[in-house]
Amino acid sequence: MNFPKIKVRESRLERDLIDLGKFGEVGGGGIMRLALSPADLTARAWVKDRMREAGLEVREDGAANIIGRLKSKSDSDHAPCIAFGSHSDAVPNGGKFDGALGICAGLEAVRAIRESEVALPFPLELMILTDEEGSHYAGTFGSRAMLDLLAEGEICKSKGDKQPSLAESLKRMGKDPEKIGEAIRSPSAFRAFLEIHIEQGPVLDSAGIPIGIVQGIVAIERYTIRVQGQAGHAGTTPMRLRDDALVKASRIIMEIHEALRNMEAEVVGTIGRVQVYPGAFNIIPGAVDLFLDLRAMEDSVLAFARKRIQEIVARQSKAKMDPFLAKAGVSLDPGIMKAIEISCRERGILFHYLGSGAGHDAMTFQTRGIPTGMIFIPCKEGKSHCPEEAIRIGDAVMGTQILADSIVRIAFGQEGP
Ligand code: HGY
Ligand code: MN
Ligand code: MN
Repeated sequence: MNFPKIKVRESRLERDLIDLGKFGEVGGGGIMRLALSPADLTARAWVKDRMREAGLEVREDGAANIIGRLKSKSDSDHAPCIAFGSHSDAVPNGGKFDGALGICAGLEAVRAIRESEVALPFPLELMILTDEEGSHYAGTFGSRAMLDLLAEGEICKSKGDKQPSLAESLKRMGKDPEKIGEAIRSPSAFRAFLEIHIEQGPVLDSAGIPIGIVQGIVAIERYTIRVQGQAGHAGTTPMRLRDDALVKASRIIMEIHEALRNMEAEVVGTIGRVQVYPGAFNIIPGAVDLFLDLRAMEDSVLAFARKRIQEIVARQSKAKMDPFLAKAGVSLDPGIMKAIEISCRERGILFHYLGSGAGHDAMTFQTRGIPTGMIFIPCKEGKSHCPEEAIRIGDAVMGTQILADSIVRIAFGQEGP
């Protein structure tokens, strides 16, 4: 049987990417669109309109996930659905394509599949998942709320930095945080989950390959390193009598960086945020919080790195390291990867298998045993989480075409109808 004529349209995809990129625009090309902020809420309203125009039935669950459902022709609506999607929120002063590509590609794939009039045996669901970036707390919040993977009391926590908790943000939207459990769905509600995303690294762009087939997603751990010193007068305290928390913290930062750079294995560590207390010009820092993000594909490598870092912290007086997030790495589904590969081969599109050093909602679905796959497209010079994040529309079109084809292949058991 031959494969249905599914053709995604560059003009519609490009228009959506441009329009979505306008929400939260700040000077210099970046966007400020923190999860459930006014900019994110207007972006989400825009997505809902586009979903309705594309013929989807739209709803929002107790965790503010937006779900657009396309019923299957055989109306087997209790059949597990094929879900795909990504996130509308962005990191502070982030790029316009992280998450947004998955939304716009999902919209265009739905339009193209509907236009092909193929009778799919499964309903489709395009999902916009809440707070993937963790601006409130731990990230991948919406998918973990949907699949019952939230930590006890997590929605009442915040990272400080003037960000509200998720419970607070949900309340401001008129939702009852107590009812967050209503978002929970059984993994059996899903036949598969697919996410198309920019690579956010240099591999595809430097190789000139338009499609990445993701084999696995990195394990992520996050820690607060609290360094205690002694506050004091910046003018009257002799240098030899000081216990300056920031000086000790700086030694920890440098030693962690050197230790990880010198490790043979693939591991990355970032201290992206430092909080100095009390934080005034004329006070010797009394305490410092360092926020460490540590990642590796291999658990054994992560464990070794964690131990080295604990030793570094222990070498400084009155310094301690507390965990606040641990997400296990995942290997993605071989069957879904095969469907993506066949789709690329059928279209004569070059592809490359690779791992993801970035976390994604896809890891939540795979963690729950839902067959999950990710499609990457290159981003220019691998830049992401910055205003310079950029893609080529031709790559986005190819990625969207592969998304649409893969959805149909999965629906018909890979070889198509
Ligand atoms: O942090 C990450 O890897 C993702 O961008 N949220
Ligand atoms: Mn991101
Ligand atoms: Mn992302």
